[in-house]
Amino acid sequence: MTKERLRIAVQSKGRLATGSVSLLERAGFEIRNGGRDELLQRVKNLPIDILRVRDDDIASFVAEGVCDFGFVGQNSLAESGLDESDNFASITPLGFARCSLKIAVPEAIDYAGASSLSGKRIATSHPRLLRRFLCAKNVDAAVAEMHGSVEVAPRLQIASAVCDLVSTGATLEANGLRAVETVFDSEAVLIQSASPISEELAGIVDLLKRRIDSVVATTGTKYIMLNAPRDAAPEIQKLLPGAEAPTIMPLSGRDAVAIHAVCQESVFWKTLEDLKAAGASAILVLPIEKMML
Ligand code: PRP
Ligand code: ZN
Repeated sequence: MTKERLRIAVQSKGRLATGSVSLLERAGFEIRNGGRDELLQRVKNLPIDILRVRDDDIASFVAEGVCDFGFVGQNSLAESGLDESDNFASITPLGFARCSLKIAVPEAIDYAGASSLSGKRIATSHPRLLRRFLCAKNVDAAVAEMHGSVEVAPRLQIASAVCDLVSTGATLEANGLRAVETVFDSEAVLIQSASPISEELAGIVDLLKRRIDSVVATTGTKYIMLNAPRDAAPEIQKLLPGAEAPTIMPLSGRDAVAIHAVCQESVFWKTLEDLKAAGASAILVLPIEKMML
């Protein structure tokens, strides 16, 4: 089947949906907004269609070439069991939707390591990852597969433990559960199909990948400008988070310099306080809107 438009699979609703759409918009793709429940959304300014589907379906759609790209959680990708090197041309971490698949037990229960799970029943929507973990720990436990609301399983006496995604921990807390084991750490990734693409669309594929790389590279990136006494400059450079080659310029008529740097890591208030303590003044932190490397 030759397609005239590139197809990208995006979760219809859930933890990945907003972040994926916002990333596409920041990359300059104008998504036509039909009804919220629309299955297929067109990108106005490029031959791209967005298919809004369930998270669990995205990895297989992309592996089969039904979609050319997909935004998916590493947890769903690993749970799909699809061989990553055979089925995907590339897998790019996107730095959002970070969460962990964890085993949790009721707060009141004693827990003394993975062996405490022996003979128990554990509810999960990630049976493959859970079984792999249990096998590696040599624990014989029953796995009860559920497709949602895993956290209520102990209360309903469906299982005595759960293996579920945790990001803030609020769901566990609200259900009187505490995390005891980490099974898998996850974030959103962009997966690219290994199926061949038409010559006309190859240029769009390159453009998409380049733009997404740029957006990912600028996320959290800041431009810092500050002034400092000349002899404080070496110390100050060490404090700049993830800045590779700052520009240092003399300030006329003073024994001071201006330092400009792109910081690749988060700039916290604490960073600014440390810079000030090291002698920096007039510190400005600016967001970077676009960057092309
Ligand atoms: C996950 C998970 C918990 C919640 C955890 O569900 O199953 O319910 O998120 O997040 P928290 O630690 O911030 O409270 P998800 O949103 O993926 O939806 P689902 O339960 O319908 O699968
Ligand atoms: Zn869930």
